[in-house]
Amino acid sequence: MSLPIDEHVNAVKTVVVPAAGLGTRFLPATKTVPKELLPVVDTPGIELIAAEAAELGATRLAIITAPNKAGVLAHFERSSELEETLMERGKTDQVEIIRRAADLIKAVPVTQDKPLGLGHAVGLAESVLDDDEDVVAVMLPDDLVLPTGVMERMAQVRAEFGGSVLCAVEVSEADVSKYGIFEIEADTKDSDVKKVKGMVEKPAIEDAPSRFAATGRYLLDRKIFDALRRITPGAGGELQLTDAIDLLIDEGHPVHIVIHQGKRHDLGNPGGYIPACVDFGLSHPVYGAQLKDAIKQILAEHEAAERITDDSQVK
Ligand code: G1P
Repeated sequence: MSLPIDEHVNAVKTVVVPAAGLGTRFLPATKTVPKELLPVVDTPGIELIAAEAAELGATRLAIITAPNKAGVLAHFERSSELEETLMERGKTDQVEIIRRAADLIKAVPVTQDKPLGLGHAVGLAESVLDDDEDVVAVMLPDDLVLPTGVMERMAQVRAEFGGSVLCAVEVSEADVSKYGIFEIEADTKDSDVKKVKGMVEKPAIEDAPSRFAATGRYLLDRKIFDALRRITPGAGGELQLTDAIDLLIDEGHPVHIVIHQGKRHDLGNPGGYIPACVDFGLSHPVYGAQLKDAIKQILAEHEAAERITDDSQVK
């Protein structure tokens, strides 16, 4: 369901996309290629995020990048030379394809000189907001939350309760230490919306207040910037967005989560990126059928090889 978001008091103009990380979990690919440009089938992950932001009704993507990651911004610029070459060759479809990122949304660069944490990165975006922007969205480009539309649901929740709204997924106990984890108010309602009492970044299993984890989609009241100025380094010695949200909760600011029931892919490491490519690839109109056959064949080959290894171990 799509809310007429541009008519809404909570209309989001700017989506902040932190993209300054070194991509260390993806080396050596990310030695020269920013991880946000790695393709999911044929489209860079950050273009999928831009499409989701545009679908929400946002007109501006504030991309936080490091000084050596100019390529991320360049992807949102028109490339007249390449367009001309493709035109000359009669490849008009491909001209459309390469214009898409620039047509979707206006990318606004924000530079983070030092990797001081997600909280620091988000805080830098305040400088590009208009005075009338009371709400800002943050989308982490590592997280693909599918089907898209969770941000619209979060906007409805903000319209009802005010404050800030985040997206959560339930993770296994073993995984709580990888995420920002919510402490939620006990209620008996069977709803996808819960009120948050606190939030802690990457807790140890024994300290985790729940298994509900923040998953890369935030709809934040502008008050977040003031809170971000007041936090001190937290988990990993970095300024954490989680800690600023927790501070707002302590001060009485309403924070809710929408528990996402669909799929999620983590593009930030090969273990999550490969399944995302397979998932998108299988749904692709051109490559889908061929990929399905190829996967079946690869699986059969691997299973046959495993059987041979098992047999030789038994002998
Ligand atoms: C960040 C946030 C964390 C959140 C996670 C979702 O962590 O700090 O709260 O749960 O994204 O992907 P990172 O993955 O950058 O370590």
